[in-house]
Amino acid sequence: MKEIIDVRVKVRRTAFDKTKTDLLGVGLFSGVKRLDKLNKELNAKLDGAIERVIRLGDFKGAEGTNAIVYGNAKTGAERVLLVGLGEKKKATLDTVRKAAANAAKKAVAIKAKSVSLAIHKAFEGRFDLGAMGRAMAEGTYFGGYCYDEYVTESEDSRLGRMRVEIIDAEAAKAKKLNDGAARGAIIGAAQSYARTLANRPANVINPPKLAAVARKLARGSKRLSCTVFDKKQLAAKGMGGVLAVGSGSQSEPRFIVLNYSPQSKAAKSKPKVGLVGKAITFDSGGISIKPAENMDQMKLDKSGGIAVLGTMKAVEQLGLGLNVMGIIPSAENMPSGTSYRPGDIITTYSGKTVEVLNTDAEGRMILCDGLAYAVKQKCDVIIDVATLTGACLVALGRYMAGLMGNDDKLVKQLQKAAEDSGEKVWPMPSGDEYAKEMKSKIADLRNIGSNKWGGACTAAAFLRQFVGEAKWAHLDIAGMDIFQKATEFTAEGSSGFGVRLLTSYLANLAEK
Ligand code: BES
Ligand code: MN
Ligand code: ZN
Repeated sequence: MKEIIDVRVKVRRTAFDKTKTDLLGVGLFSGVKRLDKLNKELNAKLDGAIERVIRLGDFKGAEGTNAIVYGNAKTGAERVLLVGLGEKKKATLDTVRKAAANAAKKAVAIKAKSVSLAIHKAFEGRFDLGAMGRAMAEGTYFGGYCYDEYVTESEDSRLGRMRVEIIDAEAAKAKKLNDGAARGAIIGAAQSYARTLANRPANVINPPKLAAVARKLARGSKRLSCTVFDKKQLAAKGMGGVLAVGSGSQSEPRFIVLNYSPQSKAAKSKPKVGLVGKAITFDSGGISIKPAENMDQMKLDKSGGIAVLGTMKAVEQLGLGLNVMGIIPSAENMPSGTSYRPGDIITTYSGKTVEVLNTDAEGRMILCDGLAYAVKQKCDVIIDVATLTGACLVALGRYMAGLMGNDDKLVKQLQKAAEDSGEKVWPMPSGDEYAKEMKSKIADLRNIGSNKWGGACTAAAFLRQFVGEAKWAHLDIAGMDIFQKATEFTAEGSSGFGVRLLTSYLANLAEK
C-alpha cells in the first residue's frame, strides 16, 4: 500500500519572474478586455503568449478551465498555467479556492513537483489577503488529492509529493497570506486525511479499526483524549441503538469519543460543542437489504463520523480555544441470523424505545445514542453529521447539504461557516408535523415516517427528539460524499465534506 500524494503548502516572498518552478499558476477572469498587472507583465515576458491564447479562443477564463503556456528564458517557470476565474462580478472567496484546486489537480495530472501560485493577484485587493491565503491552501489540498493507495500498476509513474508555494513579492502581503495559508494548510490536510479514511473500503475499515485510527489521532496530542466503548461496555451503558445496528456483523460496533480540551481559560465562557458523526462502515441495509446496484458506494456511509474525526484533527492543530467533543458511533449494517429485524423494539441510550420498521434506517438508530450521550456530557451545542437519507439527495442534489435545527442562531452560524468554507448548506424543516409521523403505537418512536414523503425531514425530526434542551443542528450529507464523480476541481470518491464547514464554525465561535 502506498501513501497518498504528499502535498505541502507554504508562502514565499519572491517575484514571479524569479521563481524557479515546474508550474506557475495565475488567475484570469472571463470576458475582461485588459490584462491585470501581473498577467500583463507575464504576457510581456512570454512575448505575448497569454494574449495569443485568449485571442485564438483556446482559453476564455471560464471557471473550471485552464490552459498551459510554456515558459522561456525570461521566466523562471517551466510552464505558466492560466486558471479560469469566471465572471469578475460573481467572484467570491470560493472562486479563489476552486481556482487553486483546479491548478493543483492539473499539476498532479502533469506531475509537476513544484508549483507556485499567484492566483490572488488577479483579485487586486478585493478580498482580505489572509482569507485568500487560506482559500488557496485549502483549494490546493482539495484539488491535489487523489485516492490511489491500492493501485499498484502506476506505482512508479505517479507523483509522490508536491510542493506548493503561494508567492508574492511584497513582504507585508506575503505575511498576511501566510497567516491564512498556515490555517488553510491545517484544514486542507485534515480534509485529505478524512477523504482517505472515508475512501477506504469496508474490508479495510470496520468499527474496531476506525476506533484504532481515532486512538492513534489522540495519542500524538496533549489536548486530545480518546475513549472507546466496545460491545460489552455498550451493553452495560444501554446503548441499544448502536448494539442493534451492529448485531448482524462479525465486526463488532464501537462508540468512539474524542475529547478536546483547549489550553486557554477563556474557553470556560464558551459553549461546549458536541459533534456527532454517523460512521456506518458499510450499509447493506441489513435485513431490509438494499438493491445490488451501487451498493459498493455504501462504504462511504461512514463519512459523517469521519468528518468529525477530521474536524477534531484540525481543531487540535489550530489550537482553538473551545471545548469540543467528537462523538462517533460506529457499526456495520449487515444481514445475518443475529441481525436486528423489522418489528423489533429497541431501548436506546436515552431510555426512549424505538420500533424498527426498516433496518435500512440505521443511521438514526446509532445517532440517537450519540446525541443522548452528548446531552449527558452536558454539551450546550450539538451538531450531528450524517449520510442519512437518499431523500436529501433527491431534494438538494449533490451541491449542498441539508441543514435542520432547533435554534435559529445556530443555523445562521452554520450558514455563515458554509460561506467561509465553500461547503454549502440549505435550510430544511424538521418540526412537529414531521415528528408526529415518527410516533409509534407500540413504542415511543418508529424509525421511519408513515409515508414516503419528506424523508430527510422526518429523519431529522426523529433525531430532534434526542437532544433535550441543547441547541442542535443536523447536517444531512448523503449527497455530498456518496456517488461523487470527478470534477474540474477534484478527484472522484469522498470529498471530505464537513471538515471545512465544521472547522470554520468552531473557529468563528472560538474567535468571538
Ligand atoms: N445511508 C443511507 C442513506 C443514503 C442513501 C445515503 C443513498 C446516500 C445515498 C441510509 O442509511 C438509508 O439507507 N436511508 C434510507 C432510509 C429509509 C429506509 C427510510 C433511505 O434513504 O432510503
Ligand atoms: Mn441505510
Ligand atoms: Zn446508512
